[in-house]
Amino acid sequence: MQSGQPSRTALAVATYRAVHQVLENGCIFADPLALRIVGTDIEAAVRAAESDPSSRRLRLFIAVRTRFAEDALKAAVAGGVRQLVVLGAGLDTFAYRTPLDENLRVFEVDHPVTQAWKKQRLAEAGIPVPARLTFAPIDFEKENLRDGLASAGFDSAQQTFFNCLGVVPYLTNQAVFSTLAFIASLPGGAHVVFDYMNPTASGSEQDDYAAAREAIAARVASVGEAFKSRFETDELHTKLTDLGFCEIEDIGPELIRQRYFGRSGSPSSDRGGHVVHAKTF
Ligand SMILES: C[S@@+](CC[C@H](N)C(=O)[O-])C[C@H]1O[C@@H](n2cnc3c(N)ncnc32)[C@H](O)[C@@H]1O
Repeated sequence: MQSGQPSRTALAVATYRAVHQVLENGCIFADPLALRIVGTDIEAAVRAAESDPSSRRLRLFIAVRTRFAEDALKAAVAGGVRQLVVLGAGLDTFAYRTPLDENLRVFEVDHPVTQAWKKQRLAEAGIPVPARLTFAPIDFEKENLRDGLASAGFDSAQQTFFNCLGVVPYLTNQAVFSTLAFIASLPGGAHVVFDYMNPTASGSEQDDYAAAREAIAARVASVGEAFKSRFETDELHTKLTDLGFCEIEDIGPELIRQRYFGRSGSPSSDRGGHVVHAKTF
């Protein structure tokens, strides 16, 4: 992130969700606050998206990962989850548009500058902050997440769901695994949903969208938020198991294609963007 500036990718991702409401009627992920929270010229963003059909794939991936996380959260709350931590919350609107279960507390963790900007966006858009939501301004590359959450009132004995979308690629491997180790160590049990990218393969292993992914990597680097981590799926699963996660659901391009777009036919490459739901019990 550029020093003293809110995350540019947080605005970009929220804009993709807003454009999804307009161009696809929110068919994968419906968010009645998506346009309001962004507050910029959505018509211009829609026109830009229409004139660049290659942006559709990323827009739909962002819609899918949010839908996947919220479906998993809904089931987890029914199963006894009492705390939601949105790590790197950006302009996520879940807590502001969903009638929260009366037993659920929400913590939004983000870089302090981005979080201050979000609060301003909420106020400007007239979106009230629910009483059960606590903001925790934490830079988790530099500060200790355990301490930061504890001072916000987080109870590690309660079963907790961590939503961590669009964040892992921007963290160093060390920050990724220390965050996951903290989540796995919680005595109350935890779920985590996050997305990650596979490294680009070389030669004949390379898939059709590798060039598009590298173009995105160049774009985010140019706004000071370069990708710092990518994982091979098998290696990541081994690492998650070693940390203590015992159930892992991972959807990659092929499963996403089948599950959310109803496409069958010959399987395509499964390399690219993945979304994972892992739990410790
Ligand atoms: C691409 S945005 C995703 C936002 C949100 N999760 C979503 O899906 O809309 C990345 C988010 O990670 C946050 N982030 C990145 N590095 C961070 C760090 N070291 N500490 C805290 N937050 C960080 C940014 O401030 C930003 O809100």
